[in-house]
Amino acid sequence: MRVIVERDFPSVSRTAARFVARLVRERPTSVLGLATGSTPLGMYQELIRMHREEGLDFSRIVTFNLDEYVGLAPTHPQSYRRFMQQSLFDHINIDGRNTHVPDGRALDFEAHCEQYEKLIDEAGGIDLQVLGIGADGHIAFNEPGSSLGSRTRLKSLTAETLRDNARFFGSIEEVPRLAITMGVGTILESRQCLLLACGQAKARAIKETIEGPVTAQITASALQLHRDVIAVVDEEAAQLLERREYYREVERAQSLLEAGEISKLLPHKS
Ligand code: PGA
Repeated sequence: MRVIVERDFPSVSRTAARFVARLVRERPTSVLGLATGSTPLGMYQELIRMHREEGLDFSRIVTFNLDEYVGLAPTHPQSYRRFMQQSLFDHINIDGRNTHVPDGRALDFEAHCEQYEKLIDEAGGIDLQVLGIGADGHIAFNEPGSSLGSRTRLKSLTAETLRDNARFFGSIEEVPRLAITMGVGTILESRQCLLLACGQAKARAIKETIEGPVTAQITASALQLHRDVIAVVDEEAAQLLERREYYREVERAQSLLEAGEISKLLPHKS
């Protein structure tokens, strides 16, 4: 896993947006997996800026969001569809028909989840999946104990997640108890993952995800099995990582390689 430690939320957001923008430019028909929550918000703002000021073109981009609350209409102020419209889609030139968020009001959930997986397949799979992480180490709504092979399905939210998300609703009683979420197995099939984390509340989850054992108790740790994951975290979220110095060294080498300065990485002549 590539680990990039940035100073703060704005620099995490800019770095993450650069990865997304590079892909969008290189392959304008890419399939992006998108996430909701407070962490990717700065990245979305930066992408909107790049669209407005640099002409970053989303017209042929296809997106699939990770999850949606069960029971909320797409127009509900706390629905993830509404969040995506307000935070990104309404401000860029994406074709609404190419944006997918699970339907929290589907009548037949099993069929809907199966159909969601099928749509991802038919689109050619996800090229880059953006991920936040819960304080309990969840990715999407794959709560601790979720099968690491799980597919898109209904999931009961834990008391911790309900508490974390109550801040967006009037009270904890109003937080939906169920969500439709891509599974860990679905996420692992994307070609590249971009994991974002900011703040002290994520430090333990990040430590366990990157340096702990792979376990269904920290579903993000399954990313260790993926061949191409980039974690972009701020100093606070990185504070418990033991191998920080090594991660920095890898990034220094990476920048030299990208700048064509491999000679600086070779042993000096004796
Ligand atoms: P956050 O949520 O970005 O709002 O912290 C992340 C998550 O719970 O997956």
